[in-house]
Amino acid sequence: MNPKRRPILAGNWKMNIPSTQARELASKLIPLVAGVKDRDIVVGPPYTSLAAVAETIKGTNIGLAAQNLHWEEKGAFTGEISADMLLDSGCKYVIIGHSERRQYFGETDETVNKKARQALKKGLLPILCVGETLAEREAGKLNEIIGRQVIGGLKDILTDDMKKVVIAYEPVWAIGTGKTATPEQANDVHALIRQKVKALYSADIAEGLRIQYGGSVTLENVSQLMAMPDIDGALVGGASLKPESFAALVKFK
Ligand code: PGA
Repeated sequence: MNPKRRPILAGNWKMNIPSTQARELASKLIPLVAGVKDRDIVVGPPYTSLAAVAETIKGTNIGLAAQNLHWEEKGAFTGEISADMLLDSGCKYVIIGHSERRQYFGETDETVNKKARQALKKGLLPILCVGETLAEREAGKLNEIIGRQVIGGLKDILTDDMKKVVIAYEPVWAIGTGKTATPEQANDVHALIRQKVKALYSADIAEGLRIQYGGSVTLENVSQLMAMPDIDGALVGGASLKPESFAALVKFK
């Protein structure tokens, strides 16, 4: 953590709970994190629960994220959701290019980039995910993969817009596996991302960029991760589905 950057802790609920449970999870979370003022708290329910959760968290210190969006304005794109629809459902953030979307739904750096640009154009704050697979890491391709994802994902994003972007580093091998990157491993990649952003933009932009770590973050490891100089937050899957565990994690010391 760097005192110049406000930590951002986000829960990615994935495709796990219907809206009655989502509403309940959000209501239980509210009092547990009500006193937290020095960090951003975000929850990311499935599309069908966005409106219910937006209503539940209205006026609190919890922000709403969608887990995806489509880059077009509107039209014949069956099954897709636009930025306007997300804004209309109360979203402030949108998670883009999660590895599960890259892996199972064919997302590429190009689609990730189109989505990020559309989100920014509409005033949504993108949480842009990058991360290598185990095979890529073991083949010594970490630098190349992260570089390609960062450069490709940020293509044509202007400096002013870049101030609104959060990047999430999520090594694919650590997601949902219980295998967390060590704080040092994670920090090395965060520093690498910051270096790439510095080369693309400027030292100021790179210094201001918030980079979350994701991949089996729990109450047990959050403090060590957050103690690292380049780690500015967490994107949490499994541990965000229980209000007590997510709240405790948000309140890491
Ligand atoms: P996990 O998921 O915390 O369950 O590993 C993280 C993520 O995919 O965002």
